[in-house]
Amino acid sequence: MTARLGRPLVWVGELGSTNDLARLLAGAGCPEGAVVVADRQTRGRGRQGRVWASPVGGLWCSVLLRPSADSPQGLLSLAVAVAVAETVEQFVPEPAGIRWPNDVEIAGRKVAGILIEATGAAVVVGVGINLNIELQVMPPEVAARAGSLHLIADRPIERRAVLEALLARLADWYSGWAAGGEAVSDAWSSRDLLRGKPVAVLRSGPGIEGVAEGISREGALRIRTTDGAIRQVVAGNVLQVCGPLGPSG
Ligand code: BTN
Repeated sequence: MTARLGRPLVWVGELGSTNDLARLLAGAGCPEGAVVVADRQTRGRGRQGRVWASPVGGLWCSVLLRPSADSPQGLLSLAVAVAVAETVEQFVPEPAGIRWPNDVEIAGRKVAGILIEATGAAVVVGVGINLNIELQVMPPEVAARAGSLHLIADRPIERRAVLEALLARLADWYSGWAAGGEAVSDAWSSRDLLRGKPVAVLRSGPGIEGVAEGISREGALRIRTTDGAIRQVVAGNVLQVCGPLGPSG
């Protein structure tokens, strides 16, 4: 069954965060498939408590899902990343890769981010895609590694068309995910930007350094440390390390 996404569609000029309004809709009993879009967010948020700059010119949206309890929870964020990667590729002539868990990049620059939040039994999938963003308006630390589809395509990108494409790809991958998740792992792995790269995980407690070796069946990042052991990371800030790992890595 393909989920129908975009009914109702709530489109607002300015919001704090589309995820917040979608959470309210979830609490009010709104059906699966409801979508919130804002032209601009004043308190857009990213993963790990980061601020998500959301000026006019991007697609900032949240989708309300009500998955069954036996769905493979850990893989949802990866399924959404595949859907977003497939969406952006429809508008630019370059392939999209995914940096674990769900940053979507083109030519080394992040063009989209995903923030998934549970609220009761419902799930809010927040997606931000830089469509027509002049990078100078972004904070310098964001602009340094961000991209925008219009710069890659060398033409303005139509937001409504991207939203429609996104909802179609999301609906397909949501169904694929609910059916078990193996296709999700395969599709995600074919876009894995970290495989074989030296990485370091920043988190509370001792960090982990090693070489990324893809994902587990549950979607955790597998890292081979210098002693040959495999460590699995389910959360944390994963940095790609330049140069060889030290002896204690
Ligand atoms: C990240 O890469 O850190 C995730 C960014 C997610 C941004 C989107 S924009 C729409 C939705 N509303 C938010 O406040 N955040 C998500």
